[in-house]
Amino acid sequence: MAEIFKNDETTLVEEDPTPTPTPTPTPNPILSKNAQKKLLKQQKYEAKKAQKKASIKEQKQRDLARRRKEWDEKLSSATEEEKSKLIEDRIVVRKERMGQRTEERGKKLERLKRAQVDGQKVVVDLEFADLMTPNEINSLVHQIMFSYAVNGRCTSPAHLWLTGCKGEIQTQLQRLPGFDKWIIEKESDSYIEALQDEKERLVYLTADSEIVLDELDPKSIYIIGGLVDRNRWKGITMKKAIDQGIKTAKLPIGSFLKMSSSQVLTVNQVFEILLKYLETRDWKSSFFEVIPQRKRCEAETEAEEDGEEENGDDLAERKKKCIEQPSDCTGDLLT
Ligand SMILES: C[S@@+](CC[C@H](N)C(=O)[O-])C[C@H]1O[C@@H](n2cnc3c(N)ncnc32)[C@H](O)[C@@H]1O
Repeated sequence: MAEIFKNDETTLVEEDPTPTPTPTPTPNPILSKNAQKKLLKQQKYEAKKAQKKASIKEQKQRDLARRRKEWDEKLSSATEEEKSKLIEDRIVVRKERMGQRTEERGKKLERLKRAQVDGQKVVVDLEFADLMTPNEINSLVHQIMFSYAVNGRCTSPAHLWLTGCKGEIQTQLQRLPGFDKWIIEKESDSYIEALQDEKERLVYLTADSEIVLDELDPKSIYIIGGLVDRNRWKGITMKKAIDQGIKTAKLPIGSFLKMSSSQVLTVNQVFEILLKYLETRDWKSSFFEVIPQRKRCEAETEAEEDGEEENGDDLAERKKKCIEQPSDCTGDLLT
């Protein structure tokens, strides 16, 4: 019988497999030295990230102001005839750019529709809402948004399912602009109900499995736990899969790189790794491309991996690339 550990500093065995609400945090908990160190490290990282985000925003505003100034100067020094030519040229360039975007969007929609027919099925299991704080649910919603955006850009996208999509998670997803038009399967039922005829093909991905994923089988349906818990609920997906009698597997991270802490990744990282692997059939490069440097051991973060860290730049770039980008996108990705 698999055990679920409430993975805070005092390890508790969680007997009840059913999702229960997150316990109210005790005010001013006394943290162990190790936990204090971890907290400090996290706070430093958050502060650095916020600083970087602010400086990127400032830089963008400066660039915009500079471009506007250059344009105004150009116009003011031009004759009337030159002025109308400049404006006309600008309109043409903008129209071309819009045309390109429309074409890209059309291609993306085609790829996603084709994936619904022959793409690798990947499920995000959204049945853990009761175990997360509002902040964690918000982070999960962003991870799903990033996953959808990456899937759309991918040459061979996956056939993505959201199951158990209801309650607070659905409410928050619904707030994302364009969510209703996403080309994705949205099911309020759990995967075990929605895919009951395909139970044999279900494989729950979980870092706690002893089975190492060798390759992706197009006939299998891979499930990712839609959970942001900083591994507070260690073993919960493993236990769920065992209780439901479905297969489990973990990513072969240990065979290719050393992690500075646990091998538990975020939902969007796992999904992106699967996509990269589908494209390249190469686990190592998929891990190196997706897993941020700060999560890998020093020795593994070779110079070949320029700027891999999931820093402000990376997140800003990802957000920019999110087609259906919500206005309140913070992009704070937690495991
Ligand atoms: C933040 S983790 C949730 C951790 C949670 N305590 C659990 O028991 O799964 C989000 C999900 O990503 C997937 N995942 C994360 N790391 C993984 C790994 N190394 N191998 C396979 N799946 C992984 C799992 O499906 C997991 O449920």
